[in-house]
Amino acid sequence: MTTKATNIHPVFDRILGRDEKQKFLNQSSRVIWMTGLSGSGKTTIAIGVEKELQKRGILTQILDGDNIRTGINKNLGFSEEDRSENIRRIAEVSKLFLNCGIVTINCFVSPTINIRKIAKEIIGEDDFLEIYVNASFKVCEERDVKGLYKKARNGEIKNFTGLDAPFEAPENPFLEIKTSDMTAEESVEKVVNAILPQLTRE
Ligand code: ADX
Repeated sequence: MTTKATNIHPVFDRILGRDEKQKFLNQSSRVIWMTGLSGSGKTTIAIGVEKELQKRGILTQILDGDNIRTGINKNLGFSEEDRSENIRRIAEVSKLFLNCGIVTINCFVSPTINIRKIAKEIIGEDDFLEIYVNASFKVCEERDVKGLYKKARNGEIKNFTGLDAPFEAPENPFLEIKTSDMTAEESVEKVVNAILPQLTRE
C-alpha cells in the first residue's frame, strides 16, 4: 500500500532501537504467526504458550482475530479486501512489538498464501515464524466452539472460511501442529520447544 500523507518526517533512526530493547528485556523478539481454520485451536495454543514463556521470563503479547476485530479493526469484515487490510494492520502492529523486543503470538485465520505473504513482507522473513494449526474442516465443524459453523451452514454467515471462502494451507511452515492428533498441552509443548531457542539470548 502506498503512503497517502506527504510532508512526513519519520524518526525511526533517532528512537531507541530493537537491539537496546531486546537487551533490556534479555530476550529476542519474534512474531509467532499461527494460521488455521476458525476453531482449529490457535487461541488455545497461544494462551498456553504465553503462560509457558512467561514462566521462562519472556515477555509476550497475544494478538487474536476476535479481539483485534473489536478494536483497531472494528471497521473490517470478511471480504477478501477487508481480510487483507486486517492482516496488513496486524502485521504493522506486530512490527511495533517486534521493535520493542516483545514476542507476539498471533492467532489469525489469515486464510490465503497471499495474505500471509503480505504479513511476512511487513514483518521480515527472519522474524516471521509461521505455524500451521491444522485441523480439518470436518473436525472444526464437529467442535463448533463458537456455533459459527452451524450459522454458516444455515446461511447466516457469508464468506465463511473453508465453506464459501478459501483456506490455503501453508506450503512450508516453520511448524505444523495437528490438533486432532494431540492434546492442547502436547500442542503447547511442541510449539514452545520449537520457538524457545529463537527467543533466548546468551
Ligand atoms: S482473517 O481471515 O481476517 O484472518 P480473523 O482471524 O481476523 O480472520 O478472524 C477470524 C474470526 O472471526 C474467527 O475465529 C471467527 O470467530 C470469526 N468469524 C466471523 N465471521 C467469519 C468468517 N466469515 N470467516 C472466518 N471467521 C469468521
